[in-house]
Amino acid sequence: MAVDLLLGLQWGDEGKGKIVDVLTKDYDIIARFQGGPNAGHTLEFDGIKHVLRTIPSGIFHDKAINVIGNGVVIDPVVFVKELEGLDKFNINYKKKLIISRKAHVILPTHRLLDAVSEASKGKAKIGSTLKGIGPTYMDKTGRNGIRIGDLELENWEEKYRALANKHEAMINFYNVDIQYDLNELENEFFEAVKILKELTFIDSEEYLYQAQQQGKTILAEGAQGSLLDVDFGTYPFVTSSNTTAAGACTGLGVAPNKIGEVFGIFKAYTTRVGSGPFPTELFDEVGDTMAKVGHEFGAVTGRARRCGWLDLVALKYACQVNGVTQLMMMKGDVLSGFKTLKVCTSYKYKGQEINHLPYNIEQENVEPIYTEFKGWSEDLTKMTSKDELPKEMLDYIKFIEDETGVSIKIVSVGPNRKQTITI
Ligand code: IMP
Repeated sequence: MAVDLLLGLQWGDEGKGKIVDVLTKDYDIIARFQGGPNAGHTLEFDGIKHVLRTIPSGIFHDKAINVIGNGVVIDPVVFVKELEGLDKFNINYKKKLIISRKAHVILPTHRLLDAVSEASKGKAKIGSTLKGIGPTYMDKTGRNGIRIGDLELENWEEKYRALANKHEAMINFYNVDIQYDLNELENEFFEAVKILKELTFIDSEEYLYQAQQQGKTILAEGAQGSLLDVDFGTYPFVTSSNTTAAGACTGLGVAPNKIGEVFGIFKAYTTRVGSGPFPTELFDEVGDTMAKVGHEFGAVTGRARRCGWLDLVALKYACQVNGVTQLMMMKGDVLSGFKTLKVCTSYKYKGQEINHLPYNIEQENVEPIYTEFKGWSEDLTKMTSKDELPKEMLDYIKFIEDETGVSIKIVSVGPNRKQTITI
């Protein structure tokens, strides 16, 4: 069986967790392939809201096996807190959750390095979630990292010490005022590692290969969004992994010719948390309303998200880079009540009109050119079928489909599992 992918097409927070949760019933295995606790995948059902950070969003379904792939970075401390959150719901994660031995471990000093590195950047800071993501991937590509499989070795603590000492020297080099008690952080870390080691570690690429041979259905769950991809995103204001479709191949060991459907998730408007260019950002009442109605606050950091109109130039780019085969539009309900809706269909770039995403989309280089639509006023949150959707919304959907060349298969009209319309 082919492996299907689910990816965010904007700057993250598109609502991937909800869609994985909705789709999980169709899959035997859900596998995370990149990122780490910088993600916050929100799922809402039975009146309870759950936020998952490193654990795949299939964990609440009875059948699905959840795999954390080699491309993921894991902070044992955050991870154990996540497990504690699952205990309340009697989730048998020891049976349903397995971890790649090749995934890398976030050390307490990685988090500290993230903090001093950001602080030293001043105004140019990335707006990192400060979860140690960048420094851990740096150690991975620098071939210094500690992997989950290392935790099974007798001498892993020696390796840990050597790396932590090196990190301490680097922290001092930054010469930034930072207060920390490494002993305390390490005690917490080593306790968490003990609990983490009670889970099953596997050679996940082999596991997934065998699963494919046996005809099992697999969904690869992306984190963050395509515009935060380290290669194709708005560099340097990106995360440190490949969030695009290629990341699923390297982050799980799945061959490119074994990829099936690519589900692309996007919001009916755009948001971004942290720094970096955002051509369609709104600084007026309209943006404030989107933020308020859409509850646009980060699931991990609580930071307010920046809001703006849908950017079709960027969306088309994301569809292209990922080979999206089906689109899913989230938070359509948030746009109810705006008299006019705008969609950016091209950019004015260095005096010329272009409709691709150029190298540099900073405000001084790019001015969005908009197409306007008549809005709708109906409350969509109780609607359950396409026939109930207002004509104006169907026009909006049709326009996006025509521009991207990809059909929209799901329209989400609220955070609950049930508020999902299949088109
Ligand atoms: P980092 O990956 O924590 O270093 O953050 C790098 C950039 O990516 C920052 O602008 C973050 O706000 C953003 N970012 C990281 N993870 C997420 C996410 O899950 N959703 C949205 N933005 C994210």
